[in-house]
Amino acid sequence: MADKALGRGGRKSARDLKVRVKTAKKRTVSSTKWLERQLNDPYVARARAEGMRSRAAFKIKEIDEKHHLFRRGGRVVDLGAAPGGWSQVAAQAVGSTDERPLVVGIDYLEMDPIPGVKLLQKDFTEDDAPEMLIAALEGQKADVVMSDMAWPTTGHRPTDHLRIIQLVELAADFAMDVLKPGGSFVAKVFQGGTEHELLHMLKRNFRTTFHAKPPSSRQDSAEAYLVAKGFKGSEIEEE
Ligand SMILES: C[S@@+](CC[C@H](N)C(=O)[O-])C[C@H]1O[C@@H](n2cnc3c(N)ncnc32)[C@H](O)[C@@H]1O
Repeated sequence: MADKALGRGGRKSARDLKVRVKTAKKRTVSSTKWLERQLNDPYVARARAEGMRSRAAFKIKEIDEKHHLFRRGGRVVDLGAAPGGWSQVAAQAVGSTDERPLVVGIDYLEMDPIPGVKLLQKDFTEDDAPEMLIAALEGQKADVVMSDMAWPTTGHRPTDHLRIIQLVELAADFAMDVLKPGGSFVAKVFQGGTEHELLHMLKRNFRTTFHAKPPSSRQDSAEAYLVAKGFKGSEIEEE
C-alpha cells in the first residue's frame, strides 16, 4: 500500500526518500522532527495525491477493508471529524450525496464542506450535541458511529488515557442510542489498560469487540482503535 505513495519514479528505498529538515532558530526540536516525519511519510503523500483531507483517512479505510464496517446506503456518524478524512472515506463507501446525505460529522473546529456530509460545528461533550446529531440524522438510526476524537495531549500518558476514555464512553453511550441493531462502533483509544468497564459494557451490547491497529497508525504511537460490531439493540443495556 505504501508503495503506491512513492510516486511515478516507482519503488524507492526508504533511504532514498529521506528528507532531512535543518533545525531553524524558531523551530523546536520536536517540531523539526514532526516536519521531518510528515515529509517522509508515504501516507501523507498518498493523502495529498488522492485528495484526502488527512492521513488519518487511511486508518478508517484500512479498518473498513479488514472488518467491513460500511455498506452502500448505510448511515454514518463521525465524531471529531475535522479536517474530514474519515467523513470523506465514509461518504464514498456508503454512496452519500448532497441530495441524499448519509454521513453526519461533528467537530468543534470549523470545516470546509465535504460532498455528501452534513457537518456540525459543536463540542460533542455539550449536553445538546447528541440531540443535534439525532436531528441531523432525520429520525433515522445509524449503521456506524465512529470517533477519532482526542483532546490535545498533555504528554502525561495516564492523564491522556483517562481523558480519551471519558470521550469514548460518551461516544459509546451515544452510539447505543442511535445505532440500529447490527450496527458498528469504532473509537480511538490509547493503549493504557484502564478501559475494562467500557470494554465490559461494549461486550454486553455488541456481538464482537476487539482492538485494531491499522498499518497506517504509527507503530510508535499508543493509539489503537476499539471496534465493536453487531449491536444487539437498545433494550440490552437496560436489562
Ligand atoms: C485526530 S482528529 C480527527 C481526524 C479525522 N478523523 C480525519 O480523518 O480528518 C481529532 C478531532 O477530534 C476533535 N475533537 C476532540 N474533542 C472533541 C469534542 N469534544 N467535540 C468535537 N470534536 C472534538 C478535534 O477538534 C480534532 O479535529
